[in-house]
Amino acid sequence: ILDTKDLKIEKVVINGQEVQFTVGEKQSFRGSPLEIVLPVALSKKQEVVVEISYETSPQSSALQWLTPEQTSGKKHPYLFSQCQAIHCRAILPCQDTPSVKLTYSAEVSVPNELVALMSAVRDGEAPDPADSSRKIYKFIQKVPIPCYLIALVVGALESRKIGPRTLVWSEKEQVEKSALEFSETERMLKIAEDLGGPYVWGQYDLLVLPPSFPYGGMENPCLTFVTPTLLAGDKSLSNVIAHEISHSWTGNLVTNKTWDHFWLNEGHTVYLERHICGRLFGEKFRHFHALGGWGELKNSIKTFGDTHAFTKLVVSLKDVDPDEVYSSVPYEKGFALLFYLEQLLGGPEVFLAFLKAYIKEFSYKSITTDDWKAFLYAHFKDKTDVLNQVDWNAWFFSPGLPPVKPKYDMTLTEACINLSQRWIKAKEDDLGTFSSADLKDMSSHQLIEFLALMLVAVAAPLHPVQVGGCRALGSRNGHR
Ligand code: BES
Ligand code: ZN
Repeated sequence: ILDTKDLKIEKVVINGQEVQFTVGEKQSFRGSPLEIVLPVALSKKQEVVVEISYETSPQSSALQWLTPEQTSGKKHPYLFSQCQAIHCRAILPCQDTPSVKLTYSAEVSVPNELVALMSAVRDGEAPDPADSSRKIYKFIQKVPIPCYLIALVVGALESRKIGPRTLVWSEKEQVEKSALEFSETERMLKIAEDLGGPYVWGQYDLLVLPPSFPYGGMENPCLTFVTPTLLAGDKSLSNVIAHEISHSWTGNLVTNKTWDHFWLNEGHTVYLERHICGRLFGEKFRHFHALGGWGELKNSIKTFGDTHAFTKLVVSLKDVDPDEVYSSVPYEKGFALLFYLEQLLGGPEVFLAFLKAYIKEFSYKSITTDDWKAFLYAHFKDKTDVLNQVDWNAWFFSPGLPPVKPKYDMTLTEACINLSQRWIKAKEDDLGTFSSADLKDMSSHQLIEFLALMLVAVAAPLHPVQVGGCRALGSRNGHR
């Protein structure tokens, strides 16, 4: 039985012999089970080749088919996929669960004017022997991956080399700006390898998508997908690249076994992301973003309500669409737990050693929160007393804010608070005391924090519950 969603199955062949199959009734977001009847009873470990001929639907929940008008160049259509969490079934029949890992190879035939890319190493291109107006692109992914990391893009794409293992891909209109914006990529990869161990995926390319790409970034192996809204011009959103790079270890090597344990993917990835940015811009900068994350967590919990089940770190997704649950909670409650443990167990160096050992232990596997906790206890076997102080039940299973707030260095945040307080307390007569000099020593991140504080203090009470895509109301990276 394989997962499918809106696929038209034409034929199934096993070891060269056509076989019977049935497609069950559609179960809403889950799609339809494809049941294949085996030709003979198979013995354990016997290899079978299953060939399925099928068609996807224009409505596939994994695919966006863009018209030429929806692209920068306006001349050619564009296709991209987004499989996480459970949309791979809307591209191909599969066991659509992160508990199963697979390698893959692919050949994609596209019109000559277009380029195909996948979440894999490029393995050559050639004219399509069946049609001279088309080209075939080949791919190979030799590292076992969960199927939510299968990805495909087809468009009028160009590339530029920005590092020894990195090309940036986009339509030609964005190539130059993208190369400048993401110039820190190789430095980030080196820091990530220092923290996580060797980078096993070979290539690390970036793809800048059209604006309808629904996330800030997606860690498709060998080819991170990013939104064009990262092209700020000042590299100020490069933490998204640090984040997607970090998934090359946490998520893509060590994978959540089910989506209930999604925090394992995202919490550890945010933790690594903030260390990478900390190495580049200083420990105070790491603490500033850690505190920003606590603010995001508070906002999310306020939006859901502090008894809502989706504010738990470990969730129960039985009969629930993972897309409905998606929020900052697994990211920031997960990060807060790791940052709290870092402080409890002896500081960043000690905790980074744990993280490296964790990655080594569970690479190429899919794990649960219990596996993570058992390894934490095994690694810190001399600190069991300390670990037993942690209210695990509350951290994992209670809704609302965590039982403990970690400690944060306030240096960079204080500048934002001080300026916002000056504005909030100002009287008519004080207006002349404000000038652009107030902002000259602040980074763009601090300006955003200052504006978020102003919005919470001033705008929110005046205009309750509106404005989507604004940081103070709980959306990450300001892109929604
Ligand atoms: N893997 C996620 C995106 C995702 C999660 C897509 C779940 C579908 C289902 C990606 O790594 C991510 O976390 N992106 C963030 C950016 C990051 C800097 C927090 C985003 O898009 O907001
Ligand atoms: Zn992520």
